[in-house]
Amino acid sequence: MLDYDREAPTYDDTRGGACRATAAAAELERLLPVGGTVLDVGGGTGIVTSVLAARGRRVLVADRSVGMLRLAGRRLPGRVLAGDATALPVRTASVRGIVIVWLLHLMPSAVDSVFAECARVLEPAGVLVCTVDKDASGRGESPDPSACDAVATVTATAARFGLAHCADGAFVGGSARPPPTYPVRAFRREG
Ligand SMILES: C[S@@+](CC[C@H](N)C(=O)[O-])C[C@H]1O[C@@H](n2cnc3c(N)ncnc32)[C@H](O)[C@@H]1O
Repeated sequence: MLDYDREAPTYDDTRGGACRATAAAAELERLLPVGGTVLDVGGGTGIVTSVLAARGRRVLVADRSVGMLRLAGRRLPGRVLAGDATALPVRTASVRGIVIVWLLHLMPSAVDSVFAECARVLEPAGVLVCTVDKDASGRGESPDPSACDAVATVTATAARFGLAHCADGAFVGGSARPPPTYPVRAFRREG
């Protein structure tokens, strides 16, 4: 995995900047339930989260990179949490929405743990929206079913933690030309 502390100063500009963030946030917003707090897991510099906040969302950003979080803190003072996606520093059943953008593909051995944590912190009927098939999408290729964030794998993992597939979407963005289309899938916490 990249060293995101070192990557932080150039991250936004090299990943599609405000255009990517605006497109991603608009699609996340469409899939999230109304109201409540939205937690951005692996939210990095907060570039996507801050667009959600500008649209009226109450937000939190969690990330394990101090360098990325420093930038997120400038955008969203008091709304950033240092922590790992597999052990979120958030109370049980306390957030109505979770977004995970471009994180799961980096965690081949921890997708189960991430979904377990998300299921714990989501309110009943809360919704998690995450990118799937990230690497292949970014290259404009067909999805790789063996990827750790392959849509079938993510859907099966979510179901094991009581998160039922409820909707799909996609956003266009990124630094490649033409910008790729990234699929997202939404899951609702049952019970
Ligand atoms: C590709 S960046 C995506 C950032 C942000 N979601 C976005 O779309 O701009 C991946 C982010 O995940 C964070 N990350 C990687 N592994 C993590 C983990 N185990 N727990 C929390 N954050 C993690 C990195 O520090 C980095 O900020």
